[in-house]
Amino acid sequence: MDATFDSAPRTGGGRHGGARRDPKDTAQLAAHPVSAARVLTLFRPHRLTLLTVLAIIVTSSVLGLATPFLAKALVDDAIPHQDVRLLLVLVAAMIGVAAVNAVLGVVQTWMSTTVGQRIMHSLRTAVFRNLQQQSLSFFTRTRGGEVQSRLTHDISGLQGVVTSTATNLAGNIATVVGTLIAMVALSWQLALLSLVVIPPAVLLSRSVARLRRRATEQRQKALAGLHGQVEESLSVSGARLSKTLGAGPALADRFFRASDDLLELEVAAQIAGRWRTATMGIIFAVIPALIYLIAGLPVTSEGITIGTLVAFIALQAGIFRPVMGLLTMGVQVTASMALFSRIFEYLDLTAEVPEPAEPAHYPREYAEGRVCLEKVTFRHTDGDHDALRAVDLTVPAGTHLAIVGATGSGKSTLASLVSRLYDPTEGRVTLDGIDLRDLTSEQRAGVVGVVSQETYLLHDTVLQNLRFGNPDATDEQVEAAARAAQIHEVIEALPRGYDTVVGARGHRFSGGEQQRLALARTLLRNPRVLILDEATSALDTRTELAVQRALDELGEGRTVITIAHRLSTVRTADQIVVLDHGEIQERGSHDELMAAGGAYAALVRASERVDENVLDAALAA
Ligand SMILES: Nc1ncnc2c1ncn2[C@@H]1O[C@H](COP(=O)(O)OP(=O)(O)OP(=O)(O)O)[C@@H](O)[C@H]1O
Ligand SMILES: [Mg+2]
Repeated sequence: MDATFDSAPRTGGGRHGGARRDPKDTAQLAAHPVSAARVLTLFRPHRLTLLTVLAIIVTSSVLGLATPFLAKALVDDAIPHQDVRLLLVLVAAMIGVAAVNAVLGVVQTWMSTTVGQRIMHSLRTAVFRNLQQQSLSFFTRTRGGEVQSRLTHDISGLQGVVTSTATNLAGNIATVVGTLIAMVALSWQLALLSLVVIPPAVLLSRSVARLRRRATEQRQKALAGLHGQVEESLSVSGARLSKTLGAGPALADRFFRASDDLLELEVAAQIAGRWRTATMGIIFAVIPALIYLIAGLPVTSEGITIGTLVAFIALQAGIFRPVMGLLTMGVQVTASMALFSRIFEYLDLTAEVPEPAEPAHYPREYAEGRVCLEKVTFRHTDGDHDALRAVDLTVPAGTHLAIVGATGSGKSTLASLVSRLYDPTEGRVTLDGIDLRDLTSEQRAGVVGVVSQETYLLHDTVLQNLRFGNPDATDEQVEAAARAAQIHEVIEALPRGYDTVVGARGHRFSGGEQQRLALARTLLRNPRVLILDEATSALDTRTELAVQRALDELGEGRTVITIAHRLSTVRTADQIVVLDHGEIQERGSHDELMAAGGAYAALVRASERVDENVLDAALAA
């Protein structure tokens, strides 16, 4: 019976297993339907290979059916007639069929895996490229890990679609059809009996399997609940909570009930499992028994030889699994289509901040660094209010603009628009008179540099991290930038200096050190326009003053846009803008604004006392 199975790929393996549709898959398909035509387009370039795979599957299924016939000839002719030659031929043929099928199986797996991997590779790179084009808002909208999961998990799942779902479908159909034909050819009486007996047997075993799965799921859930309770109650924080709240007895009660529930579910699951085995045992005993009965009764035994009987028993055993496989096919197809749907969804995303079709002529040497916001209004994609409203602002080349305002007033948003993380909803942002939308990201990034509160370091050496923005920088330039950012000495003190590996996400460094590394990295690019969004916020006052002094020096001849909470650092700015709920409330130099006695003057007065204390402390240290 196993020869028949060899050619029929086993069903229900991997993530497509189980006989019930995953609600998540159904929801995904409802939200983003997938056309079969589009899926087929992916396979079209590989159609020759796939046709070969199909031919191999059909061939090996049919070859597998030969074994029962060989057995029949063996029992009916070779053995009774002591025909040694025939015996040798038949035995050799049996071994040959198994060998050929084994080789065909290897070739088939090789071909289908190659196709699967090719499709995966092209989809993976296409999705990666398209996601790279997405604006920042896409990533803020998307749940963490979702992008990674689709890129790796879903796309690897495609391998299964090709090697398991598609080949199972073909293999199961070929085996079922072939077996039915062979059965009828062997004996119509026995075939008729099988047709009456096998379908209800399959349905019975399916429903018992379903019962068992339900019991197992319930047990799993209860077990997870119990684990959760242990984790909650018997951990440091849990123990602290229950001790301080005196919740010990209540928690013990809860645990008792959960454990008691588990007891019953555990028994039920075990019994359900036993029932399933028992049912299968009965089915696999009853069907052959009935076949023997029909073959033995004088009324029905017409034309049934012992060889026919042997062959038939083998055939009927081999049809069971493919029929079960075909019944769960719908679930596998749904899971596969959901996979495609998730991938296509990412492929179909259009870039919210697209690259220009025809970039403006703007060589880096010509850049002066005049930044203008013209009637800029901006609302985040999922925002319920404008983060900026009708902002008109000019920062002449080489001047220093400081933006102040309450938290949430739109300061970072304004900075993000200048570095084109977003495009304005209305109005435009220009660099030396050119709309940012007409510059490629490379052109823009060559001129505008940003250091924000949130830094991101790559898992690489300090040197490579600093060079990330400017791969051509010499060692001297790297060191000069590190000195300017007040980080050179820290790096020198590391065990391997500039070759020290930063550690995942830069956790090796303190927040302030990470900020200074980011600052050095940006300085190395030597940008004409430098945006500092609370770039020194993680530093202590002393270091901040030092970095600030360095920045003032570096700012000479550049356009600098600073966002700072500490008002002492904005005093020297050429222009100070006070933002309030996304609108410019006031603007002018420090002296002008102080003289006007408005919002800025009030802010300065309020912060003066704090600042003085801080300064005193810094100077005393
Ligand atoms: N990704 C986002 N999606 C939706 N709304 C956002 C998003 N980012 C910011 N906002 C909203 O836009 C407004 C301006 O935010 P922004 O970050 O520019 O403020 P900020 O002035 O930099 O504040 P802070 O001083 O706290 O950094 C806020 O109301 C904020 O809730
Ligand atoms: Mg901010």
